Amino acid sequence: MIRAKISGTGSCMPEKILTNQDIEKMVDTSHEWIFARTGINERRIAAEGEFTSDLATTAAQRALEMAGVDAQEIGLIVLGTISADYPWPATACIVQKNLGATNAYAYDISAACSGFIYALASAVDYIVSGRGKKALVIGAETLSRIIDWSDRNTCVLFGDGAGAVVLEASDDETGILSTHLHSDGSYLDLLYQPGFATRHMPSVSGIEAHLPFLKMQGNEVFKVAVRMLTEVSLEALHTHNLGPEDVSLFIPHQANRRILEATAKRIKLTEDQVCINVHKYGNTSSATIPVAMDEACRAGQLKKGDLLLMSAFGGGFTWGSALVRWSIQDN
Ligand code: ACO
Repeated sequence: MIRAKISGTGSCMPEKILTNQDIEKMVDTSHEWIFARTGINERRIAAEGEFTSDLATTAAQRALEMAGVDAQEIGLIVLGTISADYPWPATACIVQKNLGATNAYAYDISAACSGFIYALASAVDYIVSGRGKKALVIGAETLSRIIDWSDRNTCVLFGDGAGAVVLEASDDETGILSTHLHSDGSYLDLLYQPGFATRHMPSVSGIEAHLPFLKMQGNEVFKVAVRMLTEVSLEALHTHNLGPEDVSLFIPHQANRRILEATAKRIKLTEDQVCINVHKYGNTSSATIPVAMDEACRAGQLKKGDLLLMSAFGGGFTWGSALVRWSIQDN
């Protein structure tokens, strides 16, 4: 059986840091409130003229370099994002051009914070079906551009960044063991971006100012997120008759420290099994998992043969998990 393995990881975070103290000057909030409710200290914000495709391209270049793969060897680029450069064409196509990946076809996936897991599943299918041998999977966002910076309920939570992995056909027992995806469109009102798509176009007489910005009922999202993240993580483990004690590292979508801790507790994982970097970057939606994975990989926290569990939850609602027998040899 052909399996897909991760052979390289990369990430790219904007240089500009926005601290909780900076946000105190923008809306009626405090560092104490933000940190106690979310675990977030600071987040990165893209510079003027720095777009999702730019962050994605650099993250992809770093992943290709680690894998020792040339851009022209890539057959597929799939990119999870909800803050694309344009409504269309896909940001993945812009990344393809930037990389010179002339032999790849490219598309975006809109699954909000589950975007990376959805994109990964899609690329795994590409390799396992025998359609191609090498793919790039990217999660990239400039959420700062779809946040209402006068809304304290949301603006404290999010940040910008990108992460990427190279997937290749595996020649040993390591690789992606399985992916598990779910959606439920009935929760739309709890988390969505009203405009601008065809339901809410900018009017000729003037743009309705609130439309482009993300809307969220945070406390309702919280409850469903913990339940679904737990269920889909256990689904991955149970599929392989594995338990929490078998997990070397759990990389959950970095939404909020309280969500991560509540989920880890329900799965019965210990603190040192859980990867958390939300304090540095906030919630970067589809980028959180590949960024955390890249940091863990480069810090030597993942060794060949380790069992990596990833799970995500986001707007849609969408949720998903992936279980990986880690392939990259620790240097
Ligand atoms: N600073 C100070 N006070 C605030 C702020 C703020 N930034 N934001 C909200 N408040 C106030 C509210 O107005 C409310 O005041 P009130 O009681 O006078 O009405 C009070 O704090 C409590 O508000 P809640 O929304 O009930 O606070 P909660 O404890 O639920 O925390 C939070 C809010 C952090 C958003 C939490 O609900 C959460 O993390 N939800 C998950 C949302 C999320 O992560 N979404 C991302 C996308 S989905 C995903 O990634 C999983």
